[in-house]
Amino acid sequence: MAPKVRSYESDAIVVDYDLKRCIHAAECVHGLPSVFDPDKRPWIEPGGAAADELARVIERCPTGALQYRRKDGGPAEAPPAGNTVRISPDGPVYVSGRVRLTLPSGETIEETRMALCRCGQSRNKPFCDNAHAEAGFSDGGVVIDNQLRDAEDDDAGVLEITLARNGPLLMRGPVEIQSADGSACSGARGALCRCGHSANKPFCDGSHARQGFEAE
Ligand code: SF4
Ligand code: FES
Repeated sequence: MAPKVRSYESDAIVVDYDLKRCIHAAECVHGLPSVFDPDKRPWIEPGGAAADELARVIERCPTGALQYRRKDGGPAEAPPAGNTVRISPDGPVYVSGRVRLTLPSGETIEETRMALCRCGQSRNKPFCDNAHAEAGFSDGGVVIDNQLRDAEDDDAGVLEITLARNGPLLMRGPVEIQSADGSACSGARGALCRCGHSANKPFCDGSHARQGFEAE
């Protein structure tokens, strides 16, 4: 699915908004109502706040639907110290850190924030588009059996994510998985279910093949 990115600009900053990756009304609207107002057109008014303040709120957008580019010489977004995958109950995985996602087309996306589908129903795979709610996807988001493996060589700190055809999200690079019960486990290699059928979520257990899951 082609991205649908719109840009909104002030003298100090450009805000890029990818409609297809926006899945909830939370951080932006609550964080800076002088800039983000769904009842106004345009709904983003970058001049409504100082660029530093706006950048801080954009960095809280968990899906990466919001990004910014500074025109005033201010700093670009810095990745957090570590890479994390947070499992959301009945919802996507929120990935944060130095993340490099390779799409089936070969295009790579290097960002610090992403929400990736794990129910198998998104029409904007690998990104979440909120289809889990309509599909009634149910999973508590708790890691029962850690399937992460250790690093095999120097990973240089980047979390590489690739997509197995008709199969899981493949992770390579240091990562902490944050379970919905507050526990966490770490490793550097792993496969996350994105078909929604694994009996050992969030990890892949091979169920995608039995279920005939299809995704590029
Ligand atoms: S914080 Fe991000 S995902 Fe949430 S409503 Fe705003 S743009 Fe959409
Ligand atoms: S992707 Fe779901 S079990 Fe493999």
